Amino acid sequence: MDYYAVVGNPIGHSKSPMIHGMFAKQTSQNLEYGKIEAPIDAFTNTVNKFFEQDRQKGLNITVPFKEQAWALCQARTDRAELAGAVNTLYLDENNNLCGDNTDGVGLVRDLKNNGVMLKGKKILIVGAGGAVRGVLQPILKELPSSVVVCNRTLSKAEELVLIFKHLGNIRSSAFQDLSEAFDIVINGTSASLSGDLPPLSAKVISPRTVVYDMMYSKEATVFNVWAAENGSDKTIDGLGMLVEQAAEAFKIWRGLTPKTADVMAALRLL
Ligand code: ATR
Repeated sequence: MDYYAVVGNPIGHSKSPMIHGMFAKQTSQNLEYGKIEAPIDAFTNTVNKFFEQDRQKGLNITVPFKEQAWALCQARTDRAELAGAVNTLYLDENNNLCGDNTDGVGLVRDLKNNGVMLKGKKILIVGAGGAVRGVLQPILKELPSSVVVCNRTLSKAEELVLIFKHLGNIRSSAFQDLSEAFDIVINGTSASLSGDLPPLSAKVISPRTVVYDMMYSKEATVFNVWAAENGSDKTIDGLGMLVEQAAEAFKIWRGLTPKTADVMAALRLL
């Protein structure tokens, strides 16, 4: 039996143990996946202790430790390197701590599952914090025609553009300068957590604009409600991104790609 876990603070409501439990059952893998609440000031210690134990093979990392996990790694994938954050940890054959970031791939796969391709599309990304930085490389890899990063604090959007501009057509914008409709609008702000809306003009939405909120909740998120009220025919929340980022982590650890549709359906019923 191999052991895995998700580390965060708080961690009580994490759906990762359930998701990975379903993946393990589906693929007949003999593993257990738990959750660990690391003290805010003792993340490194928690990770080191975990990997000291035999058969403790991998960790997922969530809020607020993804940047600390990045700093702790001895090796990182290119996408994790650029993300500045790590959500998946494992040891290589020389016992080096390796980090990856599967969030962006999770987002792109969920969009594809929903029939949304990014190639040649005009994409607006709202927010410029850690969550947005974590998804920009996989988005740009899909060759959209342009990516605009819009943020309340413009300097943070400008910083992201500097980090990612070698990968494609990406620029920053202030909210008040947006007045055209986009093909895809992605909300990566944490505003939804407090039920707030970013100050976005409804002009960015047309009936054929696909709107994706990286947050999810049982009811439609405030952002998606706003988008639907302003004419978007297709709004998607971030539950599928959660499942797809987990599937990619599972593949890194076990070499198998689980099917995600049944897992998504089960989570929607909770
Ligand atoms: P995360 O790890 O979730 O990305 P973060 O790095 O703190 O968290 O970033 C939060 C993002 O949500 C930022 O882009 C933030 O905008 P600022 O950079 O201007 O702070 C954005 N955000 C949070 N609350 C918001 C609100 N009420 N309106 C608009 N943007 C908001």
